[in-house]
Amino acid sequence: MPEGLIKARLTAIRYAARETNLYEFSRLDGAAWPAAAPGAHVDLHLPGGLTRQYSLVRAGDAPRTYVVGVKRDRASRGGSIYMHDQLRVGMEIEIGGPRNNFPLNEGAALTILFAGGIGVTPIMCMIERLEQLGRAWRLYYSCRSRGEAAFLKALEAKGADKVVFNFDEENGGRFLDIAGIAAAAPADAHLYCCGPTPMLKAFEAATAALPRENAHAEYFTAVEGAAAEGGYVVELRRSKREIAVPQGKTILEMLRAAGVDVTTSCEEGVCGACETPVVSGLPDHRDMILTASERAAGKTMMICCSGSKSERLVLDL
Ligand code: FES
Repeated sequence: MPEGLIKARLTAIRYAARETNLYEFSRLDGAAWPAAAPGAHVDLHLPGGLTRQYSLVRAGDAPRTYVVGVKRDRASRGGSIYMHDQLRVGMEIEIGGPRNNFPLNEGAALTILFAGGIGVTPIMCMIERLEQLGRAWRLYYSCRSRGEAAFLKALEAKGADKVVFNFDEENGGRFLDIAGIAAAAPADAHLYCCGPTPMLKAFEAATAALPRENAHAEYFTAVEGAAAEGGYVVELRRSKREIAVPQGKTILEMLRAAGVDVTTSCEEGVCGACETPVVSGLPDHRDMILTASERAAGKTMMICCSGSKSERLVLDL
């Protein structure tokens, strides 16, 4: 078993909404899971070499269970179909993480949350924490229909002043006015979005004028393709090796071809597992994790999808 993976048993499956289930995992050794903060996700290592990232529904310092929400994805590359059709209570898998690319600022005077579909999963975790802290929050939750809205009853119970629903079927397919909501937000509010890519893009456009530390988006699929322009050399500072990356290849592909062992998970720039310190050179960032200022600083990069703008890129590997 790769380092860091923990053996787990699926101990419950609960219906959450149409084609959406909650999956609860306990450790085989009976111990508590590693601490997880709101916004964190874990890697589920499924049979057949599939690794999928899912946000945790609940956070905690020593949780007895990890719970993830999974919607059957019609465009599934296998993960959600396996979870829905083959994974059964009692079966064992391995779980890695947690990692958190979507951390909650617990000190914000007001937190405005946007969720689309199953993107509500990390948002539920945030709401629980904000309520524990007594912080002000508001959620805008967009779904195709009520039947597809996970946690509907719990969220309705919070009250209309806290949770605003936007069901496509009930308003003629009109999108949530993210731009209008963001424009009306107080300057010190923190805004978060997790949902399908069009919603995330609308959120990024709507919050483009805000300080980047006030706007937080969680992507689950890559928007850009991996950098495969090639034509540069990667120097591995610690192992004292040089590896050429030709056109059509990624850094990850060439490291693997050279027998370099690197940690990865999503391999499309959304999970953070392959984050690697940069010693020198100019990375060509293609991930969905680093902020604009982190990209500009150039101190770290995701080697599964990002490349190099300089002829030589020195990594701390
Ligand atoms: Fe997920 Fe690189 S493996 S970001």
